[in-house]
Amino acid sequence: MSEFLNPESPLRVAVLYGGTSAERDVSLNSGQAVIAALKTAEIDVIGIDINNTGDWLPLIQQADFDIAFLALHGRGGEDGTIQGLLECLGIPYTGSGVLGSALAMDKLKTKQVWQTLGLPTPGYCWIDASTDLEAVWRKLDGMPLMVKPVHEGSSIGMSKVDRLDQLQDAVAKASDLDSCVFVEQWVTGKEFTVSILNGEALPVIGLETNHQFYDYEAKYLVNDTRYLLPCGLSPEEERELQALSLRAFNAVGCQDWGRVDLMLNEKGEPQLLEVNTLPGMTDHSLVPMAAQAKGYSFSELVLAIIQAAKQRYGF
Ligand SMILES: Nc1ncnc2c1ncn2[C@@H]1O[C@H](COP(=O)(O)OP(=O)(O)O)[C@@H](O)[C@H]1O
Ligand SMILES: [Mg+2]
Repeated sequence: MSEFLNPESPLRVAVLYGGTSAERDVSLNSGQAVIAALKTAEIDVIGIDINNTGDWLPLIQQADFDIAFLALHGRGGEDGTIQGLLECLGIPYTGSGVLGSALAMDKLKTKQVWQTLGLPTPGYCWIDASTDLEAVWRKLDGMPLMVKPVHEGSSIGMSKVDRLDQLQDAVAKASDLDSCVFVEQWVTGKEFTVSILNGEALPVIGLETNHQFYDYEAKYLVNDTRYLLPCGLSPEEERELQALSLRAFNAVGCQDWGRVDLMLNEKGEPQLLEVNTLPGMTDHSLVPMAAQAKGYSFSELVLAIIQAAKQRYGF
């Protein structure tokens, strides 16, 4: 870490944050936390708000910095598009590249990759305007189901459906946000999240909520969500989830850091839900929490992410 503080080779970092997705507010918080951490580490840092005016483009083209730290969440930031722009401009950036970002943003394609490799994920069905919902209901063995927009995050637009007559409304709600929607078999069981940092799975966090599921409110608005760290599994079970999550992360072509969400069903079998390539980075977010259990401060985590990118780019 000391090289970051070497006055002879000062590093200039641009934190790209904000974005225009439904997760803009979360990203503003992540970006500010990362900027503060870099300032604490005495790194030269500028923040660039990727808003919908486009006034940020000249700042990026000027590239008066060595590396972009991406603190964007959701479409337009976590989905490979900003990564592609930076690639074209020859600007180094942190985290997953174009392929891993784009693939992980598509929950459906991610599941298809996992299925091909024999990695466990709940049964699902893609829905469009012509889909016979009753046939879907039967195909997925009846209730309950989870309806999801394919490309959204932070549980936005998702609903649990217990009866066939609720399915239409739930699909309509998800369709308002995304032209691609799918339904997934509901998993009854415990939820976990596994943070990945530079080829290693960090301690697993268990998640418990009083809500029906870990929804937007449970994630950001209420303070009765319980984060279990240690996660309550035996060391062997925890190692299994870590190994599976690392495989799931690599399978989707992700790199450097991220987070895999998964559950254990009633039989205790893991079921992979999704990969987050740019998870929340506030000081109470999940990856920083897992990193802290491993002995990393928030600043050290930010620097480790930058270090991984520097190594990839060879500077
Ligand atoms: N198949 C499922 N069965 C039960 N709960 C689910 C299922 N899929 C998602 N959830 C719940 O919804 C939350 C959000 O789902 P997830 O697929 O992780 O999307 P995102 O976090 O990107 O919105 C999960 O953290 C979990 O609580
Ligand atoms: Mg999730």
